[in-house]
Amino acid sequence: MDLTSEDYRETAPLIQVEKFLKIRILHLSDLKEVSMLGNGSYGRVDLVQVKDDPKQLFALKHIKKRPVDKNQHKKLRQEKNIMSGVKCNFVVKMLKMFENDDSVSLLMECCLGGSLSSALPKKGFDTAAVTFFTACMVEALVYLHSHNIVHRDLKPGNAVLDQQGYLKLCDFGCAQQLTANIKTWTMCGTPDYMAPEVIMNLGHDFSVDYWSLGIFIYECATGAPPYKSNDIMKIFKQAIAGIKTVQFQKSLTPTIVDLVTSLCASVPEKRLGYRSRGREIRHHKLFERFDWKGLAAGTVKPPFVPGVHFPVIRKIQEGVADFPTNFLIMQMKKCQITIVWLSKLRSTSKKSRDPRVHLDIWDDACKTEVSCILL
Ligand SMILES: Nc1ncnc2c1ncn2[C@@H]1O[C@H](COP(=O)(O)OP(=O)(O)OP(=O)(O)O)[C@@H](O)[C@H]1O
Ligand SMILES: [Mg+2]
Repeated sequence: MDLTSEDYRETAPLIQVEKFLKIRILHLSDLKEVSMLGNGSYGRVDLVQVKDDPKQLFALKHIKKRPVDKNQHKKLRQEKNIMSGVKCNFVVKMLKMFENDDSVSLLMECCLGGSLSSALPKKGFDTAAVTFFTACMVEALVYLHSHNIVHRDLKPGNAVLDQQGYLKLCDFGCAQQLTANIKTWTMCGTPDYMAPEVIMNLGHDFSVDYWSLGIFIYECATGAPPYKSNDIMKIFKQAIAGIKTVQFQKSLTPTIVDLVTSLCASVPEKRLGYRSRGREIRHHKLFERFDWKGLAAGTVKPPFVPGVHFPVIRKIQEGVADFPTNFLIMQMKKCQITIVWLSKLRSTSKKSRDPRVHLDIWDDACKTEVSCILL
């Protein structure tokens, strides 16, 4: 959904101009909640549709304001300012922000394939998929770093798949615009992906994103990050001890081990990508036969096409849903069950796939409706 001024200037078909203008005059009251897309530590992200144009779907991230937390207000402003200025196909586009005294809501393009962490198999992706998803994140980082933006929270949970299967970076809650050659000191990110210099508060810059990319690759290839513990201090100690202390799984190819090791060098300046704002990562052996131009043009075939696995949403897009959708969502709200949760049932064991097994509280009519929709 290319709706930024930059994009419509390039192609300028009338229909895009129309859509762009429509979004500019949208109010929160013009949107209707369809279901929940994800939940993060700062708030929830809903799938919403435009009331008078139901096929127009967006993601809406709600963040509750904490009145006394000045730091949160600064972070919110940062997230909005950075996201609204970003124009890259590998970063989720922010289209508009709504604000009142209690909360801030960010209207974004929606990626219906879900987050990469929810698509990640227990044993990780195969090498082709790891290569593709890493390449998408490299493109996002090259763009951001060349605009002096450090993301600081790169992880599979902050990367979402669009309907074609391309990966986009989201969640700019920790992102910061850096002044060239000046370090920043705020401790920010997710413990499992935090670089040693962030943990030790030594000051950091773009290099933290290369460290997180290394952890991201390890997780994509094995199903879990290298440093695991319920105790955050243990994770921190392991990260400080360095990637060399990690026992790499035998299933990992030497090429992947080499890339992870080069990205997770303990000395930030020695990390692959540091000297070139990420560009040299493209020349690593993992990408020997990778078609970077094709990736930018959107012609490389993704490892899988997630499609829209929520039948309700597919029906909305086809313009045929009404009664079943409303019915299902109403019932879900009552029982506090979301479409996302239901869709998870589909990937679990056969025995538990039948939602009726789980939904004893639902009345018979509702159970029948749910099974119809899930089929
Ligand atoms: N544009 C989008 N399209 C589809 N799903 C999205 C979109 N943005 C976010 N999500 C989903 O919502 C989840 C939470 O969003 P986000 O990471 O922005 O929130 P957060 O509260 O900042 O998270 P965190 O726990 O990382 O701090 C994501 O993991 C993803 O599954
Ligand atoms: Mg997040």
